[in-house]
Amino acid sequence: AVPVIKLHSGASFPQVGLGTWKAEKGKVGAAVKYAVTECGYRHLDCASNYLNEDEIGDALAELFESGAVKREDLWITGKLNNPYHHKEHVMPHLKKTLLDLRLDHLDLWLMHWPVAFKYLQEVTQAANPGAAKVDHSVSIRETWEAMEACVEAGLVKHIGLSNVPAIIVHDIMTYAKIKPAVIQNEMHPYCQQPALCEYARRLGIAMTAYSPLGTGSNHSWTGGDVLLQDPVLAAIAAKHGKTPAQVCIRWAVQRGTVVIPKSTHDHRIRQNIESVGFELDEEDMQKIAALDRNFHYLRPNDWYGIPLFCP
Ligand code: A2P
Repeated sequence: AVPVIKLHSGASFPQVGLGTWKAEKGKVGAAVKYAVTECGYRHLDCASNYLNEDEIGDALAELFESGAVKREDLWITGKLNNPYHHKEHVMPHLKKTLLDLRLDHLDLWLMHWPVAFKYLQEVTQAANPGAAKVDHSVSIRETWEAMEACVEAGLVKHIGLSNVPAIIVHDIMTYAKIKPAVIQNEMHPYCQQPALCEYARRLGIAMTAYSPLGTGSNHSWTGGDVLLQDPVLAAIAAKHGKTPAQVCIRWAVQRGTVVIPKSTHDHRIRQNIESVGFELDEEDMQKIAALDRNFHYLRPNDWYGIPLFCP
């Protein structure tokens, strides 16, 4: 069985979930159904920004109607999209997500980025560089407090943050009535964020690793070595008779994070969750720790003109 992390609320947060970023419409629904019915996934990571929640919603409705899984046995995460940070847009945006996913509540709702965009500009000026979209009139506090109201309204069980450096978490902790339950950041052997993980651990906040496989093979937009071709990971994989992807996922689980590899291919969906079934030894863990180079495949600094993550 997939291990869980116990949150402050007492809720169990499954340590391996199915990621859906870049999961195309026409494929994502089948991937969700296969993951849940054939492989035992009980955690789905979604976002309004991925533009596929309606198809996931149809898949979920089928799963519930057929009795394949009960709602209370699934953990479903969603994310607040940047153009909806203004307090008046937060709850209506969540209601749209719930409509798309065909749910009455989410288990976790994350602020996708700590950067507000101008309302509607994403649609009207999609060709502009990200920096032009940033709305400097909305504070993180305004958005967080509106997210807290969504918990109070029963629309989400937990709220949290994504793509945040520690200082933003520290600031939110000074005024939050409802503390962040989870931080979801890019994390993999080239981007381990040990200091942030330790800080979150002290605060009782769970960490989720996104892009745990280094986002796959398309690195034309980022450069950098391809994580899954790393020779150290290959050697550890060969030693255990596993794949480098399974080593990355097992490592994430073993260091106490939650991990959400994306795949729309059945054999990889299965392979990824089967990563929980073996153990890395101390020497493997040390070798992987030594791969850290604070390398982010995602480039928000370029997208938003804000150095969110300083090298
Ligand atoms: P696909 O969806 O075609 O299977 P990340 O979760 O780090 O963003 O990585 C997702 C990318 O890695 C996707 O391109 C996905 O491709 C690919 N991927 C997912 N699982 C595996 C695996 N077990 N081995 C190799 N590539 C994988």
